[in-house]
Amino acid sequence: MRRTPTRRSRMPASLAMLAVSAALAAVAAFSLADPATAQDPAGTVMSACTKCHNTQRICANLGAKDKAAWNTTVTRMMGKGAQVGEAEKPAVVDWLAAQQPGAKPVCQ
Ligand code: HEC
Repeated sequence: MRRTPTRRSRMPASLAMLAVSAALAAVAAFSLADPATAQDPAGTVMSACTKCHNTQRICANLGAKDKAAWNTTVTRMMGKGAQVGEAEKPAVVDWLAAQQPGAKPVCQ
């Protein structure tokens, strides 16, 4: 008869786990969908990618590199020390690949 309390105490624990996973999923969905929490790839490029060289090098490649090429470049720059988070990287790559040649703010 001591099993009943043990069982009962297990129920809330698994329910709590479910609640935590649901909350995490909600947070993930929220951060993807909500513009208020959206990343700012342009801001990241203009701050993280101007530490070692100006944006001229980046400007020269707008429209020339496709997404795969930008991914390679950003990966290489992160290897050199560019402060771009892994989570932010895809947005930065997408943004760079979407810029037209001569586009501001990268090109002045
Ligand atoms: C830690 C220093 C550093 C940071 C930060 C940095 N770069 Fe570079 N980058 C370099 C150096 C050094 C070169 C020239 C030598 C080379 O190409 O490896 C370069 C060259 C480049 C080139 C021309 C060569 C190529 O592969 O097309 C591009 C484009 C470029 N960087 C983009 C970026 C972007 C985008 C970021 C931000 C994600 C960035 N860089 C951040 C150091 C840096």
